[in-house]
Amino acid sequence: MQSETPITSPRHVAIIMDGNGRWANARGLPRTAGHRAGVERVREAVRTAAEAEIEYLTLFAFSSENWNRPEQEVSDLMGLLRFFIRRDLAELHRENVCIRVIGCRQTIQPDIRALLNEAEERTRGNTGITLVIAFNYGARDELVRAVRQIAEAVRSGDMDAASIDEAALASRVDTAGIPDPDLVIRTSGEQRLSNFLLWQAAYSEFVFLPCLWPDFDRAAFLEALAEYGRRDRRYGAVSAPDLAVGS
Ligand code: IPE
Ligand code: IPE
Ligand code: MG
Repeated sequence: MQSETPITSPRHVAIIMDGNGRWANARGLPRTAGHRAGVERVREAVRTAAEAEIEYLTLFAFSSENWNRPEQEVSDLMGLLRFFIRRDLAELHRENVCIRVIGCRQTIQPDIRALLNEAEERTRGNTGITLVIAFNYGARDELVRAVRQIAEAVRSGDMDAASIDEAALASRVDTAGIPDPDLVIRTSGEQRLSNFLLWQAAYSEFVFLPCLWPDFDRAAFLEALAEYGRRDRRYGAVSAPDLAVGS
């Protein structure tokens, strides 16, 4: 129901989908079962976001540090991404979802790279919500790649070091053209960024939820949006009601 959604929906919500392993552990299941259950929550999250008129939904699916997990778990996670794109791409396309992928594309398996490219190409012209999949993503890696591009532009004479500004970096990070996230949600009770969107989240609001990602349903999403609606974003300035006091 539209009326449950807050009036001031954020334009961009980014989610750190955490807690799949603990969800599985609590049920005496292997961690992969938790990842599988997590994948089943993605469609619902995209639908809820679209319904709440969110323009961009970023999902942290695999971090540049997740390669440190046991080989079998990494391979299961790769398999699940393949499964998700193959199964859900047509439906996401039908629902007018535009897919963007952020993260390092060079160091992933060629078939996964091809699938991600296909998802982006096929949905490029869609005008509904943009689903940003953060895969093999790490903010420090992203910033290093952006700085390297700037250094190359300066070396080749295309750019002057003195002209490097925030816009120069913003246009070279993976999220170029996408507004910064207004709200970052992390499930599982952990209260850290784990190398997610360090540049873009400079002024984001954060909502940390105790629920594990496979339990993150529409109601939990709407509650996080309601919490966002109660926040006062000041960007270093003074909010209007405070300015009015004593004037
Ligand atoms: C998030 O769940 C999924 C990925 C990081 C790929 P986890 O696998 O991190 O689950 P926990 O944190 O161990 O419970
Ligand atoms: C962050 O979760 C990465 C994703 C959700 C994809 P992790 O579970 O990898 O983060 P840490 O290791 O607890 O910081
Ligand atoms: Mg985790």
